[in-house]
Formats: sequence, C-alpha cells, structure tokens
Amino acid sequence: MAGRNRITAFSSLLQVGLLLLLSAGLGGRPLDKCLNNKSCQPQRPPVVLIPGDLGNQLEAKLDKPSVVHYICYKKTDTFFTLWLNLELLVPVAIDCWIDNIRLIYNSTTHTTLSPPGVDIRVPGFGQTYSVEYLDPNKRSVGMYFFTIVQALVEWGYTRDDDVRGAPYDWRKAPNENKKYFLALQQMIEEMAEKAGGPVVLIAHSMGNMYTLYFLNQQPQAWKDRYIKAFVSLGPPWAGVAKTLRVVTSGDNNRIPVISPLKIRSQQRSAVSTTWLFPYAHSWPADKVLVQTPTTNYTVRDYKRFFSDIGFEDGWLMRQDTEPLVADLTPPGVAVHCLYGSGVPTSETFQYSDKFPDVEPTVVFGDGDGTVNLRSATQCRRWIGRQKQPVTLLELPGNEHVNMLLNFTTVAYIKTVLFSP
Ligand SMILES: *[C@@H]1O[C@H](CO)[C@@H](O)[C@H](O)[C@H]1NC(C)=O
Ligand SMILES: *[C@@H]1O[C@H](CO)[C@@H](O)[C@H](O)[C@H]1NC(C)=O
Ligand SMILES: *[C@@H]1O[C@H](CO)[C@@H](O)[C@H](O)[C@H]1NC(C)=O
Ligand SMILES: *[C@@H]1O[C@H](CO)[C@@H](O)[C@H](O)[C@H]1NC(C)=O
Repeated sequence: MAGRNRITAFSSLLQVGLLLLLSAGLGGRPLDKCLNNKSCQPQRPPVVLIPGDLGNQLEAKLDKPSVVHYICYKKTDTFFTLWLNLELLVPVAIDCWIDNIRLIYNSTTHTTLSPPGVDIRVPGFGQTYSVEYLDPNKRSVGMYFFTIVQALVEWGYTRDDDVRGAPYDWRKAPNENKKYFLALQQMIEEMAEKAGGPVVLIAHSMGNMYTLYFLNQQPQAWKDRYIKAFVSLGPPWAGVAKTLRVVTSGDNNRIPVISPLKIRSQQRSAVSTTWLFPYAHSWPADKVLVQTPTTNYTVRDYKRFFSDIGFEDGWLMRQDTEPLVADLTPPGVAVHCLYGSGVPTSETFQYSDKFPDVEPTVVFGDGDGTVNLRSATQCRRWIGRQKQPVTLLELPGNEHVNMLLNFTTVAYIKTVLFSP
C-alpha cells in the first residue's frame, strides 16, 4: 500500500511539475482558468477545420519561361484562383491548368517543386472562406464546410475568430508540409488561450490523416491542455482503393469535360495520392485491387504496379510517405469517428489489355462512395489503447462529401461542442 501511495504522490508531483513547466513555457502567465480543469467549461470551445484532398483553395502567380499552348498565360501580375476555378477546367484551358498545378518530383531530394515560374500559395489560413467554398464564386458545386460553419455561427460562433480553417497544400503529404504543422500548433494555442479552454478539431477525409500525423507529433501534455476532441469525418485511415485508378488511368471526378488520361499526369504528380494508397495493415494480402489479363495486384505488389504503369517515381513517393501514419498510433485525444456507408465504393479495378491507358471496369464494395468502409472504421482499433474515449458512428446512406451537409452530422457536432 505504502508503495502505491508513494507512486500516486510521485505522479501527482509529476503533474504539478508538468503544469509549472507548461506555464513557464507560456512566459510565466497564469494558466487560463479552464485549461486543465475538467469541471470548468468555457461557453464554446474554439473550432479548427482541417480539410481533405482538394479541400481548400489554391492560388497561383505566373512568370513562366514557356507555356504548353499559345492561349495559356505566361505571366500574371497577381495571384489568381487555381483551385477551384471552373473557368480553367474547360477544353484547352485545362492544358494550361495542368501545367500550372502539377508538381515535379525530384528523386534525389525526395521532394516536389512547382514547374519553373509557377508560384503557388494557400490562401485563407486562419479564416474559413477557403474551406467553406472551394470556388470563390461560391458556386454550389464547390460548397464544402459552409453548412457546418453556418451552423456554428447560428450557435454563437464568429468566423475567423473562434472558428477557423487550416487549409494546406493538399497536393503534398505531411513530410513536405512542415511549416503548416507549426502554424497549426500556434493557431490552436492562440485560440485556446483566448477562449480559456481547449479546441475541437474537425477534419474531413485526408485532413484526418494530417490531423493524426499532427497529434502523433505532439506531447501528451500538450494534447491534454489544448485539445478537447477530434471530430473525424469520412476518415481514410487505411487509404482508399480509388487512388489506384487515379494513378493508373486518371480520374476526372465525374467532370465530363475532363479527359481522365489528360488529368492523369497531374494526378500522378500529387504525392498525397500515393500516400493514400491502401495500407497492408488493413487490406487482406490476397485482395486484388487492380486486375489485368495477365496480373493481379494487391497491397503487396505496389513496386511492380508502379513499374508496370510506367510511373517509377510513384514507388519512391509511396516509400517517402507510407511511414508517416502507417502504424496508426492512437491520437491521444477524444475521438468521434463518423463515416458514411451503403454507398457503392470502388474496391477493385479490372483493366483490359490496354492497361494502363484505358478506363477500367469497377467492382464496388461498401463505403461512402470514396472511402472504403474497412478504412474508415480503423479508428475502432484505438478503443482501449488510449485513455480518452473513441466513439464510432456509422451514417448509412451518407456520401463522402455530402455528409458535411447532413443534419445528423451537424447535430452530432453540436453535442460534441456543447457537452462537457
Ligand atoms: C475548476 O473550475 C471550477 C469551475 O469554474 C472552479 O470552481 C475550480 O476552482 C477550478 N479548479 C481549479 C483547480 O482551478
Ligand atoms: C534534384 O535535386 C538535386 C539536389 O538539389 C539537384 O542537383 C538536381 O539537379 C535535381 N534534379 C532535377 C531533375 O531537378
Ligand atoms: C486474378 O484474380 C482473380 C480472382 O480475384 C482470378 O480469377 C484470376 O485468375 C487471377 N488472375 C491472374 C492472372 O492470376
Ligand atoms: C443524413 O444522414 C442520415 C443518417 O445516416 C441518413 O439516414 C439520411 O438519409 C441522410 N440524409 C441525406 C439527405 O443524405
């Protein structure tokens, strides 16, 4: 008994020590009254929105040595919207667009660069507009976090103050977005200190992988202090089968005017796509992902797959990024994992002998239309492996992006925000 008492006393000493360290780290300011005090709840926890792949605006400024077509701009005086800009996604103009948004992979440095003379920036960090609508003209086709932000405003929140967006360059994986994570950490700390209480993170799709990577880098004391909960919407914890189609033959995301083969070169150059390939920890080793008349490819055959489709750099990109969250280390914060099901979701792609330059026949399985169910539900492996609660909620009939507009999702977020 005495031994155990001593251990308890020691661990509370440790906690006090940690608190002192933390407050010292904040320049000796007194701790805000609600931080680290479970019985005290601020009125509204601040909210940070972390978007998914293609999930925030990108802008470009050009001063290029050459262009792919005479109608393409070579030089612009200012930044213009590159994503989402529907005017650029039309025949011919799309060739200019692809040549601006693509990345160039350097297999020596294992990093990507924009083409010469293309300057890309991510607008709106710390604000909500660039994640509410992907298209600055606010066309409904690009509506993204708007419904959730609008609901938050109705509950008393203020845009760009206690609800903020954390957009990033989604063409890249976390290994090439180091500065982003510093900015995110700083913003969370500022918001928590201003509110006097921890922040709720709401991520969608690939934003969940980004958030997991971020939380895995933070000390537990930091997470205890600054994070109230992580609301995870449509998470691809184990990758997404559809990415194999994207790099094999291109995917126009159902935009009919875009030729899949044309957009394939740009899609291959986005490292985040290979990062989202299905992971061996959750996909059965004998599950065929891509089938051709001569070969079946599974999660174990990526090296050969990349070679056979003529995209050798893809294998390097996969190796660069696979370890980032491959062990699915528990995030160490309360998790609410919400995912759609019952929507036909690509699982296997069958190609003719024209592989890889042809559209496949798609075999569908369960999921939200983008993320396979087996991937979204991997958050259940954290139950009991971290002291914070992990809650799963299946949303039958919810499509991957439409789940952000669904009343059930919005109502659930409200309970997370306003319950102790
Ligand atoms: C925690 O918050 C409650 C409610 O505001 C307050 O009564 C209590 O004194 C606080 N405890 C500490 C240790 O600050
Ligand atoms: C890749 O980076 C290395 C080192 O910075 C550089 O020497 C090389 O020219 C680059 N390769 C390409 C194709 O740009
Ligand atoms: C690929 O797998 C399917 C079953 O999934 C099988 O019918 C077919 O014979 C296999 N093809 C090759 C070339 O191994
Ligand atoms: C919203 O989600 C609920 C729960 O999954 C589902 O029953 C309903 O059909 C969804 N509504 C729409 C419009 O998708």
